[in-house]
Amino acid sequence: MSPKAVDSLSAEEAAAELARLAAEIAEHDLRYHAEDAPTISDADYDALRRRNLAIEQRFPDLVRDDSPSRKVGAAVSEKFGKVVHAVPMLSLDNAFADEDVTEWVARMRRFLRMDGGELPITAEPKIDGLSLSLRYENGRLVTAATRGDGAVGENVTANARTIADIPNVLSGDFPDVLEVRGEVYMGHVDFAELNRRNADAGKQTFANPRNAAAGSLRQLDTSITASRPLRFFAYAWGEVSKMPAETQTGMVEMLGRYGFRTNPLMKKFADVEGLLSQYHSIEENRATLGYDIDGVVYKVDSLELQQRLGFVSRSPRWAIAHKFAAEKAMTILNGIDIQVGRTGAMTPVARLTPVTVGGVVVTNATLHNEDYIRGIGNSGQPIREGRDIRIGDTVVVQRAGDVIPQILDIVPDKRPAGSVPYRFPETCPACGSHAVREDGEAVRRCTGGLICPAQAVERLRHFVSRNALDIEGLGEKQIEFFFHVDDPSLRIRSPADIFTLKGRQEKSLTKLENIEGFGALSARKLYAAIDERRRVEFWRFLHALGIRHVGETNAKRLARHFHSFKALREVGEQAVMPEGKGDPGNAAWQELRAVGGIGDIVAEAIVDFFDEEHNLAVVDALLAEVTPLDEQPVEVTSSPVAGKTVVFTGSLEKMSRDEAKAMAEKLGAKVAGSVSKKTDLVVAGPGAGSKLKQATQLGIEVIDEDQWFERVKQ
Ligand code: IVH
Repeated sequence: MSPKAVDSLSAEEAAAELARLAAEIAEHDLRYHAEDAPTISDADYDALRRRNLAIEQRFPDLVRDDSPSRKVGAAVSEKFGKVVHAVPMLSLDNAFADEDVTEWVARMRRFLRMDGGELPITAEPKIDGLSLSLRYENGRLVTAATRGDGAVGENVTANARTIADIPNVLSGDFPDVLEVRGEVYMGHVDFAELNRRNADAGKQTFANPRNAAAGSLRQLDTSITASRPLRFFAYAWGEVSKMPAETQTGMVEMLGRYGFRTNPLMKKFADVEGLLSQYHSIEENRATLGYDIDGVVYKVDSLELQQRLGFVSRSPRWAIAHKFAAEKAMTILNGIDIQVGRTGAMTPVARLTPVTVGGVVVTNATLHNEDYIRGIGNSGQPIREGRDIRIGDTVVVQRAGDVIPQILDIVPDKRPAGSVPYRFPETCPACGSHAVREDGEAVRRCTGGLICPAQAVERLRHFVSRNALDIEGLGEKQIEFFFHVDDPSLRIRSPADIFTLKGRQEKSLTKLENIEGFGALSARKLYAAIDERRRVEFWRFLHALGIRHVGETNAKRLARHFHSFKALREVGEQAVMPEGKGDPGNAAWQELRAVGGIGDIVAEAIVDFFDEEHNLAVVDALLAEVTPLDEQPVEVTSSPVAGKTVVFTGSLEKMSRDEAKAMAEKLGAKVAGSVSKKTDLVVAGPGAGSKLKQATQLGIEVIDEDQWFERVKQ
């Protein structure tokens, strides 16, 4: 059968075909490069790649991360050496509404315990390009690296040297070691000109300036990079041997003196009103800038305060990206599907006539929950003036940044005659169990628990996903297959089954390699990927269990605190939740609550999890196959409180409790909520009561807030 013409593919068909082509081409690459055993002719192979490219050119927004076109010759990323960033390259939290910005500033003030007083903040355009880290030693450019995963990037030094805005040698009085960070981008005029030239020459054209900049920088042939009009704005730094300024604005000014271009629109403001008016003015003038921006970045000006504010997970507390308003479009709502998540939550998903919103083809959008469809908001108030959403309606779709597209409203005039209100199902579409809504909850949940295949499949998907066990070759499609397959030697219904698959297969006559879509090579690779995960980091193991509210960040917090899964489990099983205000629960509960960043809701979810027999059975079966590795304590040897258990009590005046906790943990200390024989140090503020008394009785060292700062020299 000859494939469908690219012009007549729907977005859905295109996405499916791109996925298939990526897998197929990768398999051929492997056969060709690693096994020296190609199974198709070069001409056929080229035809596959050409088709992949043709589809991508028609649907530029469907280009996959693992697309063959991004891997030019399959090995480019291998050929760029790796660079470990001396200081990780982080991402930014997003704000969408003006109120998010007000709230962010208020949050920082609370964290810093700063009711009044000045908190100057800068605003600057968020350039839509790709970030680059440039390392200078004694004023000479030694490495240039892409962001990569934030910890390790690609070495693109030779390419960076061809960019005119990037000095090879610094000017002025620069520090011995200086890592400059900023954005590589392509201007509108240059982009149009490049695409015109390429089109004339019958070469690939780019969907947008960002893609063009990325494609141009990541070239093996540096003469190609040199021929592309790339530009660079410097806005941040990594390792610096001696800081030349004390503020963000001061540092950016110094970057200018060293020879970098910095953004002329960066300005400092004393209050939120100033930030927001700058945001709106930049947004209004967006089209006249000559390059793409996708928002405004705000940063606390004082570097000392930046230091105190620190980081949450992978983004700084002291900066935020205020994204520009979402793009909207109108289309038809053709149907509503119900998705059942791993906790049984039923989410209505809109199936739409495909429509392009802000350059991306959207076919699905979230409808949140049944009240939302009926025109009722979270607190029971009418939304959309009470208009409900019906199948057949013309709807307004919005896409904002990285969030899932959503349906905002309907067009009443276009409602078809005879349409009926949507009835949200009261049974689970996957298992038929009752679906109930708890009082005060907007979400309807399937009560099927373990018998609900949708929940079980979602749990397995989560278990093998990238930030959990991360098992290559076990994607959504494969999980569906293994879950529903009839043959017991192939079936995977619970996490432990993944690890017994190979053993069961060895004794069986039905072989995975004979099943369509697998083959000998992918079966072998899958077993290898599974075996590789028989020993796995504690936090991954914990995250994979899918305990409510224990995502990647909380899993890491818990791993750092408890060091071993066994220790966490003991505490989880022994903890007794307090019955009300004033009841302290028991010591295990207190210990759980003392983990930095873990509040009541998360702690309760952990206790609930370990309280369920069937969860323990799943965990035990899994532990028979998989070993979670103990988390090594972070060595912060230079810190005087490293490895010590510290308790803060009484009211603190110079920092909030959260900041105190964060600071102590950054210095390698463990922060506990109650005083015991294991406590090494108590920091007591005014009003300290029973904990202080207990510390004195046990002979534990007690200091005040000033002495704490003195000790940790902050
Ligand atoms: S500051 C610690 N400033 O946005 C954070 N980032 O979403 C340092 N970006 O990876 C980044 N313009 O590639 C900063 N003026 C700007 C920016 C900017 C664009 C990019 C950058 C970063 C991403 C975070």
